[in-house]
Amino acid sequence: MTKRLTGKAAIVTGGGDGIGHGIVRRLASEGARVLVAEFNAETGARTAEETAREYGVEVAFLQVDVTDKAQVEGMIADAQSRFGTVDILVNNAWGGGNIKRIENKSDADIQHGVTMGLYSAMWAMKGAFPLMKASGWGRIVNLCSLNGVNAHIGSAEYNVGKEALRAYTRTAAREWAPYGITCNIVCPASISASYRAFRAANPETAQHMDSMNPMGRMGDPETDIAPVVAFLSSEDSRYMTGNTLFVDGGGHINGVAWAPELPDAA
Ligand SMILES: NC(=O)c1ccc[n+]([C@@H]2O[C@H](COP(=O)([O-])OP(=O)(O)OC[C@H]3O[C@@H](n4cnc5c(N)ncnc54)[C@H](O)[C@@H]3O)[C@@H](O)[C@H]2O)c1
Repeated sequence: MTKRLTGKAAIVTGGGDGIGHGIVRRLASEGARVLVAEFNAETGARTAEETAREYGVEVAFLQVDVTDKAQVEGMIADAQSRFGTVDILVNNAWGGGNIKRIENKSDADIQHGVTMGLYSAMWAMKGAFPLMKASGWGRIVNLCSLNGVNAHIGSAEYNVGKEALRAYTRTAAREWAPYGITCNIVCPASISASYRAFRAANPETAQHMDSMNPMGRMGDPETDIAPVVAFLSSEDSRYMTGNTLFVDGGGHINGVAWAPELPDAA
């Protein structure tokens, strides 16, 4: 394993489970100090403790609800006081949402998508920016989704939040490039806690989705998705910004069929 992130300070939101858990482990394995910013105290604390023990670097847990602006600002302040700065920011957390036709979505549903998808990352990026600008180096990686890119049905609030975040990330990439800060997007296809729950509830759909993927499987958080995030977090990607990388076994090429049965408006 290379140690190309030695000395760097990273924040990973939603780092207690799924893809975020894999990213925490991979960044730490490459030498980064990591703040696991996670809503779930049990998974967050366990991830931090196990990762620190395994890789011998500082990995801390902070309970954060990324939909709360004050808590996101507190997260940046916590990382700054612990590590002195923030070099790497991975906006990965997502929770909530539902599957319904758009005419059945409430204003609160759509507001949740925008808060969870866009605002949470925007607050974190604005908080990290002055620190990255001061050091002349920064890496921002935002997790978005093929659901938004391909307008999958039933998840309007998710699609809106993630596509708004892609637009925001690409704009930040242009505005912050002069300061040595890169901003890129990863759209993954990965096994995770939420995907396991989906697969248990919809085994035939999940099997069909796997079979539509050119590689015939969903990715592994730590060994398929996180290495790309580590690359985007490193000096090796210094001439890349504003990109959307599909880390999905080629699933984006023809799109993976996703068309759940959705009842009409009541
Ligand atoms: N798994 C996939 O195939 C896939 C596909 C496309 C996009 N994504 C995106 O990748 C990211 C990770 O997905 P995943 O499948 O690992 O999800 P996951 O549900 O397995 O993990 C999400 C993590 O975020 C945490 N979280 C939820 N709400 C939070 C909040 N308000 N504040 C802080 N933490 C919170 C959860 O506790 C959990 O640890 C998400 O942004 C998701 O939209 C995943």
